[in-house]
Amino acid sequence: MKDFANSLKSNTKFLIFGCGFSGNFFAKTVRKFGYKALTSSRSEKQDQHSFVFNSTNGKVPNDEIFDGTTHVLSCIPPGENGKDPVLEILKSKLKSLSLEWIGYLSTTGVYGNTNGDWVSEIDKPNPFQKRSHIRLNCETEWIESGLPVQIFRLPGIYGPGRSTFDAIRNQKIRVISKKNQVFSRIHVADITNAIIHLLRNKDSLKFHQIINIADDKPCSQLEVIQYCYDLLGLKMPKPILFDEAKKELSPIAQSFWTENRRVSNKLLCETLGYQLIYKDYKIGLKNCFLDSHKK
Ligand SMILES: NC(=O)c1ccc[n+]([C@@H]2O[C@H](COP(=O)([O-])OP(=O)(O)OC[C@H]3O[C@@H](n4cnc5c(N)ncnc54)[C@H](OP(=O)(O)O)[C@@H]3O)[C@@H](O)[C@H]2O)c1
Repeated sequence: MKDFANSLKSNTKFLIFGCGFSGNFFAKTVRKFGYKALTSSRSEKQDQHSFVFNSTNGKVPNDEIFDGTTHVLSCIPPGENGKDPVLEILKSKLKSLSLEWIGYLSTTGVYGNTNGDWVSEIDKPNPFQKRSHIRLNCETEWIESGLPVQIFRLPGIYGPGRSTFDAIRNQKIRVISKKNQVFSRIHVADITNAIIHLLRNKDSLKFHQIINIADDKPCSQLEVIQYCYDLLGLKMPKPILFDEAKKELSPIAQSFWTENRRVSNKLLCETLGYQLIYKDYKIGLKNCFLDSHKK
């Protein structure tokens, strides 16, 4: 990955919409390789790399922000009106630029429920939740925009500062058991590194417009929670059966348990040759654990 510093043109400039968990990680990483990367937030930040963009109140970046932009990454979820915030406000602006590449972070929720079966990019999306229908519409709008977009479908994102450890520490953990239920996940560093791998090898790899970024080992949430308690040297509370626990879950939390799928990463990791840093939750959570002890 070291040669990424020299693999894009020296005038490369990234505009990253949404400086949340994934956007911020991506921006910090590409800056370490010497590239310029500006990030959006909805409110003013004391950060020379930050600009304001808020699709709901007309806070739109000025032309200078866009000057010289070659690459865009959108990490903003659909708005409450169901529209993609970036396309809704900035589509014509983006079309007026000479962009080489746009990445859009989407979700594997568009695949819907497969009762635990594997899903890959060749499977037809079959959204079940309303928010996943909306997401699929946003993906379609990006594809139909004529912009050079590549869509990354992501399962649950975790990493230092946002993992099961944090849920345990903040007493937000719910130890729930549901037979045969699995979830897929991805470490935030692998989202960034997978995208870097694709950009770095853009000329030699066949272009795929939709790519899943997931780790190798979908598994039950209980397995992950047990592993964290073990690393912390604590006793895990007794699991509550989902049917009992659901009465107290918010509708959104309940909705996550209505879908059961294993997300395949074969396109990314076999066809396109990306090597995961964190192949499974054990390696990834160890990283989160060690990171929290550094502070
Ligand atoms: N979290 C997951 O487990 C997960 C799983 C699969 C897919 N995804 C999707 O992957 C993408 C990145 O996820 P993430 O968890 O890294 O995101 P995140 O931390 O929630 O950050 C989202 C960003 O979007 C910005 N934003 C939200 N609404 C906006 C609007 N109307 N106008 C302008 N900016 C707006 C936020 O701005 P502020 O910084 O000002 O708040 C924030 O920077 C999202 O689309 C998310 O839905 C997430």
